[in-house]
Amino acid sequence: MSSNQGTILVTGGAGYIGSHAVLALKNAGYDVIILDNLIYGHRDLVETVLEVDLIVGDLGDRSLLDDLFQQYSIDAVMHFAAFAYVGESIKEPQKYYRNNVANTLTLLEAMKAASINKLVFSSTCATYGVAQFSPITEEHPQNPINPYGASKLMVEQILQDFSKAYDLNYVCFRYFNAAGAHPDGLLGEDHDPEPHLIPLVLLTALGKRKFISIFGRDYPTPDGTCIRDYIHVLDIAQAHILGLNYLQKGGKSDVFNLGNGNGFSIQEVIDTAIKVTQKDIDVKISDRRPGDPPILVGSGEKAAKVLGWKPEYSSLDNIISHAWQWHQKRH
Ligand SMILES: NC(=O)c1ccc[n+]([C@@H]2O[C@H](COP(=O)([O-])OP(=O)(O)OC[C@H]3O[C@@H](n4cnc5c(N)ncnc54)[C@H](O)[C@@H]3O)[C@@H](O)[C@H]2O)c1
Repeated sequence: MSSNQGTILVTGGAGYIGSHAVLALKNAGYDVIILDNLIYGHRDLVETVLEVDLIVGDLGDRSLLDDLFQQYSIDAVMHFAAFAYVGESIKEPQKYYRNNVANTLTLLEAMKAASINKLVFSSTCATYGVAQFSPITEEHPQNPINPYGASKLMVEQILQDFSKAYDLNYVCFRYFNAAGAHPDGLLGEDHDPEPHLIPLVLLTALGKRKFISIFGRDYPTPDGTCIRDYIHVLDIAQAHILGLNYLQKGGKSDVFNLGNGNGFSIQEVIDTAIKVTQKDIDVKISDRRPGDPPILVGSGEKAAKVLGWKPEYSSLDNIISHAWQWHQKRH
C-alpha cells in the first residue's frame, strides 16, 4: 500500500471524531489504517463509508502494535482511542487511567521501538478544569476536576517528556465540544450511552427520549443557561490534517485549543434545534449540577495563527442541521 502523502494509523478511527478524520485523511490523499477495539466504534461505518483497513484490537496490546508497525510502513499516528465519559470516570477512575494513560504509554513505546516519531493526540478542554478567564487560551492553568480530564493531562505530560528525551514530535489538540455530522449524512455521532447535549436534544426531537434536561437556569449568562463552545466535527478533522502537515514539514511539538471563541447557551441550542427540526422538544428544568461552570469557551487563535486553521462549519445552524440529517437517517 503506498501513496504520496503517507500512511497514517488512526487509533479509535471507528469512533465519532476519528471516523471523520479518517475520511478527511482519505480525501487529502493519505492511506489510512484504523486500530479500534469496537467497544464504542462502528464497524458498519468503516466498511460502508470509510473503506479502509480496520484492525480490530486493543491499544494496550503491545505485540499487536509491534506486528502492525512491522506490517505497515506508518508515517504518523493520530490517536483518538480513549474513554470519554466524565461521570463514569469519577465512578470508575481505574478504567480511565488504564485505557487513556497506560494504553497510550504502550502505544508510545511501540512507536518509539518502530521509530515512528509523529503523533496527533486528542486532548480536551476538561484538562483546564474551572475557567479562570474566558475565552480560555492554551496558557490557562490546567487543574482538571475529574479523572477523565486528569488522565488526558497525564498523557500531555508524558508527551512533553517523551518529546524532550526522544525523537518524538506531536501536536496535541484540546477540543472543546465536538458536534455536528458529515454534511452528506454518512457519518455522525452514535454513542451509547449518549453524553452530549446536541444528540440528546435531537433524540428528543425524534421521540427517542421524552424530554431534555436543563441543569440550572440561574447562571450569570444572558438567558441563565450555561454557555459552551461547540466545534463542528469537520472543523476538528480539518485541524488534524493541518496538524499532520505541520509535523510532516518539521514542526515542533505544540499544543492547540480547538474552540471557536464564541459559545452558545443551552437554551440557544434547544431553540435552534426546534427551528431546524420543526418538532416540539420538551424541556425539564432541574437543579444545577456540581462542577458545571457557567461559561466554557476556548480561543482557537493559536491554531489559526500557527496552523492556518479556520473553522468553516461551526455555526449553530450548520452543526444542528448536519446532526439532524444524520440522526434521522441513523435512527
Ligand atoms: N467528543 C468530544 O466532544 C470530545 C471532546 C474532547 C476530547 N475528545 C477526545 O476525542 C477522542 C475521540 O472522541 P469521540 O467522541 O470520537 O469518542 P468515541 O468513543 O466515539 O471514539 C473513541 C474510539 O476509540 C475506541 N477505543 C477506545 N479504547 C480503545 C482501545 N483501548 N483500543 C482500541 N480502540 C479503543 C472506541 O471503540 C471508539 O471507536 C477521545 O480521545 C476523546 O477523549 C472528545
